[in-house]
Amino acid sequence: MYPLHRGRRLRTNESLRSIVRETSLSPTDFMLPMFIAEGKDVKSPIPSMPGIFRHSLDYTLDEVKKAYDLGIRAVNIYVKVSDHLKDNTGKEAWNDNGLMQEAIKRIKDAVPEMVVMPDVALDPYSSYGHDGIITKGKIDNDATNDALCLMAVSHAKAGADFVAPSDMMDGRVLRLRQALDQNGYHDVGIMSYSAKYASSFYGPFRDALDSAPVSTEEAPRDKKTYQMDYANRLEAIREVLSDVEEGADMVMVKPGMAYLDIVREVRNAVLIPVSVYQVSGEYAMLKAAAEKGWVDHDAVMLEQLYCIKRAGANLISTYHALHAAKLLNK
Ligand code: PBG
Repeated sequence: MYPLHRGRRLRTNESLRSIVRETSLSPTDFMLPMFIAEGKDVKSPIPSMPGIFRHSLDYTLDEVKKAYDLGIRAVNIYVKVSDHLKDNTGKEAWNDNGLMQEAIKRIKDAVPEMVVMPDVALDPYSSYGHDGIITKGKIDNDATNDALCLMAVSHAKAGADFVAPSDMMDGRVLRLRQALDQNGYHDVGIMSYSAKYASSFYGPFRDALDSAPVSTEEAPRDKKTYQMDYANRLEAIREVLSDVEEGADMVMVKPGMAYLDIVREVRNAVLIPVSVYQVSGEYAMLKAAAEKGWVDHDAVMLEQLYCIKRAGANLISTYHALHAAKLLNK
């Protein structure tokens, strides 16, 4: 018999391919990351992220409604903090009347069914642009955790469904779980950015929030003492397993495309949902190549999202969420 196996039979036409397709993609697979700015009537473009804006709260609510109508059920929110509110402790992060807290309240009021996951990390609030408090030139892990607890409780108080720690301090998931429980927020979940790499793909995000580490003698110049080395694989599994033990309800791998081996291993290693962040630099690269006419934007975008899902993602945080949902709903 030749050939022994005719694999092409299953690829004969689109109907056949559709009945044997192993992975499906739908708007509920996406989380929409949103950048929020102070003020009213503000829609300021981020040059390194074409199509993405920092929106003031009024526009943010419109976007959230749009996302909900398209079938998206979760948003990750980030705020752009004015310089005069930044300091080493990041204390604006737990101001109950701060922009983030206001955003959580307004979004939950406007679209109660939307799952709101504020980012828990000090970098947008830190005068050094770090996710940790600096003591004697170094990241102070445990002091940072104290601050993150205040921040998460303040998010919970504002109505957050989940908190999403993206700081990579040791022990923070356990501390956050305890702080939330002690304050009566047993139902507020934790989505931990568990395997977060020290990645150069975050550049455009740091442009958006003006949150890059500042160049100074007083603090580390990069995030490599807390975010992970991209050469490592086992370390990612250790980080994920310890976050599960500490009480995470979901874990995240970040960035996405270049880390799909990690996504698969994490998916195989844990029994809770795994999310993946297709980060700003990934978004920027596709936009740039498509702008030059070198690749087909929508085709490459959908291929990437399918591949992230195939690798094991249950949820994908992506700046393409609105556009991809539109295409999938067609
Ligand atoms: C902050 C944070 C970052 C991202 C999400 N949360 C930046 C960083 O760690 O420097 C990056 C997301 C993206 O690039 O889209 N803790």
